Amino acid sequence: MTQEFKLLPQAASEVASSVDHITLYLTVVSVFFTALISLLVIVFATRYRRRHADQRAEQIEGSLPLEIFWTVIPLAIALFSFAWGARVFFRMNSTPEGSLPISVTGKQWMWKVQHPEGRREINDLHVPVGVPVELTMISEDVIHSFYVPALRTKRDVLPGRYSKLAFVANKVGVYDIFCAEYCGTKHSKMIGKLHVLEDSQYQAWLSGAGSGPAPREDGAQLFAALRCDTCHSGQDNSRGPSLAGLFGADVPLADGQVVKADLDYLRESILKPAVKIVAGYQPLMPTYAGQVNEEQIGQLIAYMRTLGAPDPASTETTR
Ligand code: CUA
Repeated sequence: MTQEFKLLPQAASEVASSVDHITLYLTVVSVFFTALISLLVIVFATRYRRRHADQRAEQIEGSLPLEIFWTVIPLAIALFSFAWGARVFFRMNSTPEGSLPISVTGKQWMWKVQHPEGRREINDLHVPVGVPVELTMISEDVIHSFYVPALRTKRDVLPGRYSKLAFVANKVGVYDIFCAEYCGTKHSKMIGKLHVLEDSQYQAWLSGAGSGPAPREDGAQLFAALRCDTCHSGQDNSRGPSLAGLFGADVPLADGQVVKADLDYLRESILKPAVKIVAGYQPLMPTYAGQVNEEQIGQLIAYMRTLGAPDPASTETTR
């Protein structure tokens, strides 16, 4: 064996060490109680065994202090484990303000990655060290699962719904990316590398070969090519509502509900426009299912996010 045996995979984030500490703690607690209980079973079985045929067991009464003792201690251990686990879980799932947004599309059998400024890659993910990153992930086909053992983090990548994965890599290096959900013949080949770079290297990498238009620029082109602007011009009109300032806003629907214009709402409205009709409009919009793939939907949404609320000053100048 040339490689030394390691109990745990390498760790490249703070969350990774927290997860390791919990794992170690739970292992120690489990081993301790397993050993203690096994030992007591053997000791009691030997010590209180039946010594002759006519021996009868002595009736024993309950003991309140003993009952309290073995109820309170396990309860305290369980609550402590829960509180600690919950803390790490919430930290793992929180996305700090200003995280670097990166899109990931899972597809049989590859990971396609697009960075906000346009650089694309397949089966590789380059990120700067020490910077919070938020992956927005969706699948083109079946369920995949994005797993980076060195970050101790894993999230299912689903068809038809966005899922998010946040992390901060704190150690420069190259780490494995696996697909952790059986997704067909080449599931085991659906692997990649996470490259954690120093910030200067990352900036150099960003501007290197393979950079193309940013998703929002592709989205703007697509928006024009699909003639979305016919109905969604800058203003509300009889055919469709304005998309300016839409992202993140509350949208009143024709059936009286109010929904938040988040990623899933916008995606659904592109593919199944009739499901949620905006109050005051007719269900005129055709579906774009089959005309755009998940990456293109992501680009359209990226473009919509750039459409801020109409600025009164700019209307003044154009008048
Ligand atoms: Cu994708 Cu397994």
